Amino acid sequence: MSVEEPSRSRTITVEVNGDRYERDVDARRLLVHFIRDELELTGTHVGCDTGNCGACTVHLDGQAVKSCMLLAVQADGAKVRTVEGLAPADGELSPLQQSFSTHHALQCGYCTPGMLMSASALLEQNPRPTEQEARTAIQGNICRCTGYVNIVEAITSMGETA
Ligand code: FES
Ligand code: FES
Repeated sequence: MSVEEPSRSRTITVEVNGDRYERDVDARRLLVHFIRDELELTGTHVGCDTGNCGACTVHLDGQAVKSCMLLAVQADGAKVRTVEGLAPADGELSPLQQSFSTHHALQCGYCTPGMLMSASALLEQNPRPTEQEARTAIQGNICRCTGYVNIVEAITSMGETA
């Protein structure tokens, strides 16, 4: 007698950057791989896959989360925002992205999408963060290049325009 394997896929509905997606996903698929491979939103980076580097940070219902630490099925019914959702239009920069550029807050840029998502989640809650609040917001994001000073300045300077 053969025993039928339980289905490992599940249908999820997720709103990403304002667009609604319904997809069948493997129950074990990580949210970061769903975003990058299924939705082809490759601005979200993978640096470690173990929750250490923060390169995969996105917003889940307004909170900054590491998308390599969540299953895609955990985003069912949620609103996700990726770095592609920050800019107002193709070829334009959001004020925070402009601030990163102005303050030379990136070098190789690998960490930048995750930094932007952690920082933008902070700024949505707290438009005038102190240096310490900015540092706390990005403490889960590793940058191997910049030494963080310019990143923190790019974030705190947003308070001058808020
Ligand atoms: Fe998610 Fe590094 S890839 S924390
Ligand atoms: Fe290279 Fe941050 S700019 S890792």
